[in-house]
Amino acid sequence: MATSLVSSCSGSHSTLDPAGPEAAKVAQLFYVMLAGGAVIWIGLVSVFIYAARKKHQHTEENAGRVILWGGAIIPSVILCALLSYGMWLMPAIRPWVPDDQSVRRIEVTGEQFWWRVRYLDEADGIMFETANEVRIPIGEPAHFSLKAADVIHSFWVPSLGGKMDMIPGRTNPLTLTADREGTYRGVCAEFCGESHALMAFTVRAVSPADHEAWLAERSASDPQDAEGLAVFLNNGCGACHAISGTAANGRIGPDLTAFGERGTLAAGTLPHTAEDIARFVAHPGEIKPGVKMPHFGMLPEDDIKKIAAFLKELR
Ligand code: CUA
Repeated sequence: MATSLVSSCSGSHSTLDPAGPEAAKVAQLFYVMLAGGAVIWIGLVSVFIYAARKKHQHTEENAGRVILWGGAIIPSVILCALLSYGMWLMPAIRPWVPDDQSVRRIEVTGEQFWWRVRYLDEADGIMFETANEVRIPIGEPAHFSLKAADVIHSFWVPSLGGKMDMIPGRTNPLTLTADREGTYRGVCAEFCGESHALMAFTVRAVSPADHEAWLAERSASDPQDAEGLAVFLNNGCGACHAISGTAANGRIGPDLTAFGERGTLAAGTLPHTAEDIARFVAHPGEIKPGVKMPHFGMLPEDDIKKIAAFLKELR
């Protein structure tokens, strides 16, 4: 039964299927806590059974000793040991990065209900911005600066480590390391409004060489579909969304540069198809209640289709 319980927790979204050293320590802590809790539970149940069955046989002194050891001293010692172990493990789960160390950081800002992702250089200058998908190189620590634009959100990639709150007005650091390639699902772990449950993202871990190539490529965007771009701009989409290399430079909504390369739509809510993009553009509030984007269902259907086709192919 234990196997079936644990096997349901595997995959790209599981604390018990760690893909890096920080997550491995979280899983280790879970198993040690489980074992400690099991010993305390077995001890207490044994004391109850002993008390119930031997009620008429043992002396009061004997019973007192059993209750003292089984019900108080041994559980207390185990709890203290578990607490010490957890505190000892803390630095490995939350590696601390000194502020003065010039490292590249990825700034992620939680917004209702999506993730603004900025790649920063060593001097904390913005290299480029994207949304809802994060890329990191494997085998080296990725340093995140976590922020919130409106309410409290929480950044959690179960396969890569523990969660970290994103609090308006604060920057919380978090370091995660992936030691194998893969796409790991992340979620918002703090209730933040109507579409909290529709606020997911992915972390794609690739080789360091692929990551560097991707970073270099990202600085430029080259939209091929001139007609689609014109429809996008004429309908005012560029007032909220930015696409590097075009006149669209809005900063309110998610940056759509290279949008066609993304795996999902609307922060992990929909598959990345032209039909779903059109559906979202027309009625975002029906798909994602509470979203700030106004609906564009009043546009001619042909315009919506052109915008969707343009975004789907945008590299
Ligand atoms: Cu953001 Cu819950």
